[in-house]
Amino acid sequence: MRQNIVAGNWKMNNDLAQTETLITALKEQQHTSNAEVMIAPPFTNLWNAFEALRQSDIEVIAQNMHFAENGAYTGEISAGMLKSIGIQTVILGHSERRAYFNEEDAILAKKVDAALANDMRIIFCFGEELADRKSGNEEAVVERQIRKALFHLESIAFKNIVLAYEPVWAIGTGETASPEQAQDMHQFIRKTLSNKYGNGVGDNMSILYGGSVKPSNAKEIFSKPDVDGGLIGGAALNAEDFYAIVNAF
Ligand code: G3P
Repeated sequence: MRQNIVAGNWKMNNDLAQTETLITALKEQQHTSNAEVMIAPPFTNLWNAFEALRQSDIEVIAQNMHFAENGAYTGEISAGMLKSIGIQTVILGHSERRAYFNEEDAILAKKVDAALANDMRIIFCFGEELADRKSGNEEAVVERQIRKALFHLESIAFKNIVLAYEPVWAIGTGETASPEQAQDMHQFIRKTLSNKYGNGVGDNMSILYGGSVKPSNAKEIFSKPDVDGGLIGGAALNAEDFYAIVNAF
């Protein structure tokens, strides 16, 4: 079912002590909206974060996973390993994984299948580069990314998938997409899903926006009819800023 979600992607930030300090600050925040709240610490902090937040309404999620169940994949983490420490949700397809680790559509389709096979929820990321937008190709790029990684699935699979539109040119740049740009793309994404699977999937899909969401712009972005929340990077590293965004509905 469609719901409001705010997820904090910590990326490669916070050692053990910094994680404990931030989690203590997060637990002190008031949660006044109906949004589901998630945080994605680095792998080294998942277990202690999960334990520290076990009694809270903050879900601890993973930033990535490999598609194999186990084996000779040095440095990788499997869905089963994440499940074994209580992690139920994983971010896949982040633009930084696509850009720096060559995670192409076919690899992401395998990761999606592995996560679903382990009954995990997925926050699936996609978004165009600045050159795509400048040339008016943003919808074609987004459609391809969604189609190649997700359209082999049966419609029932989408109950375990949240989509996150993250225009690459807005990530970490302070150059946020306008609320109208976000709404236009989210509406296109929802229509693309409905065209393939029917309104039952499109209308019930939670679609998050990511890319320089801040306390100052979150309310206007989240007020758009096809925006169901955000995937937050930099602002998630400060408890007060993160909850200003969580409560911006
Ligand atoms: O996954 C969320 C992230 O890519 C957005 O980063 O720093 O622009 O909020 P930021």
